[in-house]
Amino acid sequence: MKKVYITRKIPEAGLKILRENGIEFYMADHKLPPTQKEIIKNLKKYPYDGVINFLTDKIDSKVFDACPTAKVYANFSVGFDNVDMEEAKRRCIEVSNTPNTSAVDVAEHTVALILALCTRIVEGDEFIRKGKYKGWDPNLFIGTDLKGKTIGLIGGGQIGTKVAQMLHNGFDVNIIYHDINENKELEESFKVIKKEFIDVIKEADIISLHVPLLPSTKHMINKEILSQMKKTAILINTARGAIVDEKALLEALKEGTISGAGIDVYEFEPKITKGLLKLDNIIMTPHIASSRQSARNMMAEIAAKNIVSALTTGKVIDSCHK
Ligand code: DGY
Repeated sequence: MKKVYITRKIPEAGLKILRENGIEFYMADHKLPPTQKEIIKNLKKYPYDGVINFLTDKIDSKVFDACPTAKVYANFSVGFDNVDMEEAKRRCIEVSNTPNTSAVDVAEHTVALILALCTRIVEGDEFIRKGKYKGWDPNLFIGTDLKGKTIGLIGGGQIGTKVAQMLHNGFDVNIIYHDINENKELEESFKVIKKEFIDVIKEADIISLHVPLLPSTKHMINKEILSQMKKTAILINTARGAIVDEKALLEALKEGTISGAGIDVYEFEPKITKGLLKLDNIIMTPHIASSRQSARNMMAEIAAKNIVSALTTGKVIDSCHK
């Protein structure tokens, strides 16, 4: 019987698929993401055939060495920047992700962050809770109009397209984007104009990041780029933390180089760059953009199906090897 190691609890929907296909599993019961040491310790206990792991698990040669029999790693996430893909390829290890599971959810969260910043909902809530509301004031928490603003999408893939669709259909905004690939559907269906990266940076009032974390996108938003944005610009990041140089973002928000930020992902997650917590021009959420039960169930199902496929045919369905 094949046996799979699961680094943390996944929804029953995925476990059911493993059981139905006669695959045994050991599922660790960590409350917090396990350290690499813990993963290695557990993997050494049994000659597992595969692993289901999370974006918080650093999967590299040390992990591969701990369990040479495991020839498939099913990443329970869309992003797979936590896996050393070159090393996996060298060792003929299959790696899969969970595409098409959460684009709408992440897009909704992106739009929620934009609206929360424009309408100052979080500050207003805090004000009320602290008992500071003493009477209506026409100058209280003056917000920013979204109407007429230019939205700049960095990345015009699935999530970028959903954000464009929601904003185009629901709000009176102009949308521009940059991507290394052309997306005709995005351009034609939602009237989005393709521009050079630096032009999106300079022209947009709200810049939203929707690219994967790759060596080429790490610190794509740095001090130099932040200084080219409008002073009134808002930066939204629901993609991956390290796309933004977090220290540079802190300085830019403190010095008024840009006006605000809505952030769901962090460069040194779960650590947050000191200083960001003291600012009131940033709204932060704890990497929950895709946190819906439907998405989590789908991710578990897809991860399990990839394991089944790899253990029966030698190949995953959603390969991360390009
Ligand atoms: C992903 O899937 O990559 C998200 O960041 C976590 O759900």
